[in-house]
Amino acid sequence: MTTVLQVDNLDVYFGHGRSRAHVLQQVSFAVKAGTTLGLVGESGSGKSTTAKAIVGVVRSAAGTVLVNGANIAGARGRALNALRRRVQMIPQDPYASLNPRMTVGETLAEAIDPRRASVRAHAGKITELLALVAMDADASQRYPHEFSGGQRQRVAIARALAVQPEIIIADEITSALDCSVQAEVLGVLRELRTRLKLSMLFISHDLAVVRHVCDEIAVLYQGRIVEYGKRDDVFDAPRHDYTRLLLDSVPDGGPLK
Ligand SMILES: Nc1ncnc2c1ncn2[C@@H]1O[C@H](COP(=O)(O)OP(=O)(O)O)[C@@H](O)[C@H]1O
Ligand SMILES: [Mg+2]
Repeated sequence: MTTVLQVDNLDVYFGHGRSRAHVLQQVSFAVKAGTTLGLVGESGSGKSTTAKAIVGVVRSAAGTVLVNGANIAGARGRALNALRRRVQMIPQDPYASLNPRMTVGETLAEAIDPRRASVRAHAGKITELLALVAMDADASQRYPHEFSGGQRQRVAIARALAVQPEIIIADEITSALDCSVQAEVLGVLRELRTRLKLSMLFISHDLAVVRHVCDEIAVLYQGRIVEYGKRDDVFDAPRHDYTRLLLDSVPDGGPLK
């Protein structure tokens, strides 16, 4: 199986002098084609920093990030922009990725082709993308505020897919949603993994959610990966005390099981 995303020994520091903090320490993991890796850890453990370091928003002091073999960390300028399109990030708050003044159709058209962002020219493709996230074609004419939180997050997923990325990074994309809506968004993601053989880094503080969508799990604790393995191995036989602690806080038979 080919590796879509390979992260090796990523080190990130924040701050200067005495307030300098080593936020990521030798973080390493890999996402294989068509699979989802769950990156889980408590708030402040460094999950979002990992995502930002991968797409180059945060600078790493050391380490490599390879997307299908191409090094993002070493890229600059136009080459970096091209690489960034290959990795699409979906943030927790869809308002951050969706322009409130653009209709959903306009947003998708721009993602499909930034140089020719015509809703009419891309109508077929727009309908197709909306169908992938279980939305009707008429959503194209509406604005982000006209949708519910779950629908908006599905539009954000469609926008990410429009770019035809090699991998998607989803950072806490269901955290702001209530349980039933969470299940709806996670259902869409699982369907996409099967239909499109989507590769994904799925970030969450919630192990119950991670269990629902991931093939493998990496546990981040104070900036270090302390556990990494196949989902069922991690759940059935956690090696690290911290993972056990996280597992104990997963409600038994919760709504997502
Ligand atoms: N821009 C920043 N400047 C300084 N410290 C930051 C910055 N972003 C995050 N941090 C710190 O880095 C650590 C990891 O944060 P983050 O990656 O956001 O954690 P998570 O996403 O797991 O909640 C936290 O201690 C946080 O306070
Ligand atoms: Mg975060």
